[in-house]
Amino acid sequence: MSEPVQTPQAIANAAFKPRIFSGIQPSGGLTLGNYLGALKRFVQKQDEGIQTIYCLVDMHAITTWQDPAKLRHATREGAAAFIAAGIDPARSILFNQSQVSAHVELGWIFNCVARMGWMSRMTQFKDKAGKNSENVSLGLYAYPALMAADILAYHATMVPVGDDQKQHLELTRDIAIKFNNDYGVDFFPVVEPLIEGAATRVMSLRDGTKKMSKSDPSDQSRINLTDDADVIAAKFRKAKTDPEPLPETAFGLKDRPEARNLVNIYAALADQSVDQVIADYAGKQFGTFKPALADLAVSKLGPIAAEMNRLMQDPGEIDRILGAGADRAEAIARPIVDQVYDITGMIRSRR
Ligand code: TYM
Repeated sequence: MSEPVQTPQAIANAAFKPRIFSGIQPSGGLTLGNYLGALKRFVQKQDEGIQTIYCLVDMHAITTWQDPAKLRHATREGAAAFIAAGIDPARSILFNQSQVSAHVELGWIFNCVARMGWMSRMTQFKDKAGKNSENVSLGLYAYPALMAADILAYHATMVPVGDDQKQHLELTRDIAIKFNNDYGVDFFPVVEPLIEGAATRVMSLRDGTKKMSKSDPSDQSRINLTDDADVIAAKFRKAKTDPEPLPETAFGLKDRPEARNLVNIYAALADQSVDQVIADYAGKQFGTFKPALADLAVSKLGPIAAEMNRLMQDPGEIDRILGAGADRAEAIARPIVDQVYDITGMIRSRR
């Protein structure tokens, strides 16, 4: 077996134990984008044997209004999706953010490390706030500092995410570097984003230039992990495409965002390269490709939806798993955040 490639970051982080952290917001049901960009890769990382910590970030979700009953449901359903997709709560740590107070404690400290100018440059904030920026919550603005806290409370060194989180992870690195410089310590690792595979940015089925998102008003724009076989097939059948057949090479997808998106989805679901998919479907019409894609998606997502359904019959068991995960998460994060209090000069004299 060949040696893993040592990036400069991996070398700089050598003092830290390799550890993966990532999170998903329970602000609605999960989509195919969340599955291919995040969940599926979370499972791969777990199966590679690295320590993996995964979190349903309910504190992040409330940066925009969440109905309490729906939030509770979405958090349990998110946990069910993790497990159904292959996360084993015995091997990975799986929990919801609000049960481990270290996140918000470190989040506050990072609010005092991060600069207003850094936050103002966050494109996701600008997109979400839009013209309404005077009226969004302060939490939405501070969101990336809490995200940095999620990761750094565990001294995580690697963070698998979709492409849309890249800027937030750059900010996480900036916060770690500034904290280390300000306090003259080598305390936080500088995390490495893991943005890999054919589906780091799954696009809307209605518009190949827009990201597939759980918050898109059109349900036709996305595949939900809870969609049944007929719905999945219908959504792919109606997905926007162009009139051309599939090209002879991957380069031919360059100015065809909808075609490229469907090919990327196929490749990611089938664990094939885009070149392999193009080699199989070169010159074929979408009338042939779309049903093949729908069949593939149903074969991969159907068992996940069925298992989610089964797990959701017993919400008490899901809560138990999240609680046990939170205990294990707390055992790692607490001593790290206690050291941060010490480094920053906070007196901790309660018995
Ligand atoms: P969230 O909840 O929007 O998305 C969860 C994960 O899914 C990925 N993703 C996608 N990947 C490909 N194509 C898409 N269309 C697509 N849509 C979503 C996201 O990139 C993400 O990896 N800020 C984060 C949650 C978070 C977090 C963290 C992540 C909070 N703390 C710490 C990592 C580490 C978010 O809103 O993800």
